[in-house]
Amino acid sequence: MPTIKEILNTMEYGPAPESTKEAQAWLEQHGRRFGLFIDNAWTDAADTFATNNPADGKELAQISQATQADVDRAVEVARRAQPAWAALGGHGRAKVLYALARLLQKHSRLFAVVETLDNGKTIRETRDADLPLAARHFYYHAGWAQLQAEEFADFRAVGVVGQIVPWNFPLLMLAWKIAPALAAGNTVVFKPAEFTSLSALLFAQICQQAGVPAGVVNIITGDGRVGEAIVNHPGIDKLAFTGSTEVGRIIRKATAGSGKKLSLELGGKSPFIVFEDADLDAAVEGLVDSIWFNQGQVCCAGSRLLVQESIHDRFLAKVKARMENLRLGSPLDKSMDVGALVDPVQRQRIAGLVDSARAEGCQVWQPACELPADGSWFPPTLITGASTSAVVAQTEIFGPVLVAMSFRTPVEAVQLANNTVYGLAACVWSESISLALDVAPQIKAGVVWINTANQFDAACGFGGYRESGFGREGGREGMFEYMTPVSEDARPAAPVIEAKGKVKAVEETPFAIDRTAKLYIGGKQARPDGAYSRAIMGANGAFLADVGEGNRKDIRNAVEAAHKASGWAKATSHNRAQVLYYIAENLAARAEEFAARLGAMTGSKNPEKEVQASIERLFYYAAWADKYDGQAHQPPMHGITVALNEPVGVIGIICPNEAPLLGFISLVAPALALGNRVVAVPSEAHPLAATDLYQVLDTSDLPGGALNIVTGSADELAKTLASHSDVDAIWRHDGSAAGCAEVERLSADSLKRTWVSGGKGRDWYSTAQAGGKVVLAHASQVKNVWIPYGV
Ligand code: NAI
Repeated sequence: MPTIKEILNTMEYGPAPESTKEAQAWLEQHGRRFGLFIDNAWTDAADTFATNNPADGKELAQISQATQADVDRAVEVARRAQPAWAALGGHGRAKVLYALARLLQKHSRLFAVVETLDNGKTIRETRDADLPLAARHFYYHAGWAQLQAEEFADFRAVGVVGQIVPWNFPLLMLAWKIAPALAAGNTVVFKPAEFTSLSALLFAQICQQAGVPAGVVNIITGDGRVGEAIVNHPGIDKLAFTGSTEVGRIIRKATAGSGKKLSLELGGKSPFIVFEDADLDAAVEGLVDSIWFNQGQVCCAGSRLLVQESIHDRFLAKVKARMENLRLGSPLDKSMDVGALVDPVQRQRIAGLVDSARAEGCQVWQPACELPADGSWFPPTLITGASTSAVVAQTEIFGPVLVAMSFRTPVEAVQLANNTVYGLAACVWSESISLALDVAPQIKAGVVWINTANQFDAACGFGGYRESGFGREGGREGMFEYMTPVSEDARPAAPVIEAKGKVKAVEETPFAIDRTAKLYIGGKQARPDGAYSRAIMGANGAFLADVGEGNRKDIRNAVEAAHKASGWAKATSHNRAQVLYYIAENLAARAEEFAARLGAMTGSKNPEKEVQASIERLFYYAAWADKYDGQAHQPPMHGITVALNEPVGVIGIICPNEAPLLGFISLVAPALALGNRVVAVPSEAHPLAATDLYQVLDTSDLPGGALNIVTGSADELAKTLASHSDVDAIWRHDGSAAGCAEVERLSADSLKRTWVSGGKGRDWYSTAQAGGKVVLAHASQVKNVWIPYGV
């Protein structure tokens, strides 16, 4: 007698097409020609291009290519509308966001069909994933709008936000962008991708119904040139971009020095790790969701399968058997698993990458699978035998192509998982909770799914590490992307140098005159590589001391030492707090000497005040070290999502010239408190406040390499740090507008996170301006670990 499985295998599915009647009627209503949506009104369609159905290549409608004048007008009306939208208050905005959520639900079938027609993804996905998640984002953010005055009292809206999204989740990305922006009181100029504009245009229509005031949401269509016009528009205060890493880099460079706030959600090459004790059948289903969901056109697709060697063959046999059962065909058919690719250009790109794998000697396996004659299709594909450096093992393929490799030990799994420039997501499959939870923090990625895949929720932030970009969407952390601390508005227009008092004669300072301060690298004083030093003069013009003139080699050594000090990131937060308290204690013991030195260097009237404030700041960040905890979210699944505040890694810090001790401590202490390792360039004018700290550090149990200090030219050293590929973030606070712009530009190559002061100053004595959660957020990155449970 045949088994149930055999019977099921012989059963044929009948076609179950979704009707397109309503969607076609909506397109007809617009005469299949769309203008732009600006100031709650449609412009006449102009300079149009076709948007096609990827499943059959047929034209659906004509879309307008916006001009510079259109972008100017959209920004202008958004600017005009913003104050009233912010002034509407949290409840007023919450009601509008709630109305949008309700309307999305009410018209969800129409949206789902329009999305499937325009994008080629299956109706099962648009109906069951994209639409419910998009509505959830508006509900969730209606909540943040309601709570804003209470929960974000020290913040205001950024202003006018430019938002640019790709074609893989057109409506969902719109929701991820527009909901938090509106909740926080911003107005938006939004651009969908040129392949998939229709759902955004349908959304424009429901904005009118939901009572979104004119000018608050503007939707302009067109290709990358329109994106570029938004990016470069001086009237934009913040940019939020999702798309390729290549364009992310262009945007980072284009906005350098502009003061525009920026979040980038870029590409990925995410590992899907299967340990030998995993539930293999569940892992296979997870893999299907991970790499064949949306034909693999997903930034966080689990495109690299890493399988423990002992189960490698067995697991791949199961994967192949499952691939044979994937149903590929009309995306409107409710029983299809795999739909069409967005455009022939993507098909060619994927085919080219798969050919490169063949040329490199990899094995390419595809199930017997009939591809429809028209449209743009690619069969589910498995590649084995690729080396870790193969093009297909390193490049984001963005298609239904899985590259499989094996590993022996958990250590090797982590090494392979991290062997990429990206860091967006990862899946870990193991029935051993201790193994899974041991591996998750070691993977450099913004999201880790344990025994599950591709789960999303508005409450759980999403975003990348490394070249996958920076910033988060969703959760509390996502709201910060759309807000500015009110304390920023109080910052002085330029660094404020304190009025000089009576400068003591050099002889009165307790430090030897003929001393040359060395650099501080790996916990040891080191001679500068170039064997040059620079003279530091006191406020009265007299020679005080020489300091080492650090160069590129010194920075490289310091970065290497910082990487070696990885134990600091793993130290307990209690331990890190203790070390900071200890530094404060040892500084307090020598407060008078430091005050005298500060007085001699800067001529400050009250150097004692700066030393005391520095001691207090060390206490402040020691206090935070074991209190800046993450969160446990309860998304709509049986399980929890743990949001961990992880250190960013190695941070390069260019310290201010004003308040040379307090400024240095205010930047270095929070970075250390959260487990980062630091390469600090102290005040170029007054570096002795930092070099005098060497002995304090030596006697405070700070492990060698956790803090490295390189003196010299701020411009030269900042350039080297910003271009160094192993530096994860760079902060520049010396008031040099041009220097800050350069740091942002150079950081684009490896997509470092940046925090710069621009030309403005900062009151280093004010906790509002130089402390608080904003600084802690710069010193950390959130990793969301999804842990479903149940038996
Ligand atoms: P893309 O990054 O070029 O396009 C994304 C969005 O940016 C679109 O709205 C586009 O019009 C806009 N854009 C293009 N150039 C711009 C510029 N210079 N300034 C401002 N905006 C600009 O991605 P594309 O060409 O659609 O896809 C190419 C490849 O990028 C894909 O094969 C895939 O590998 C990757 N990609 C990754 C995504 C992700 O979420 N990780 C999303 C989309 C693409």
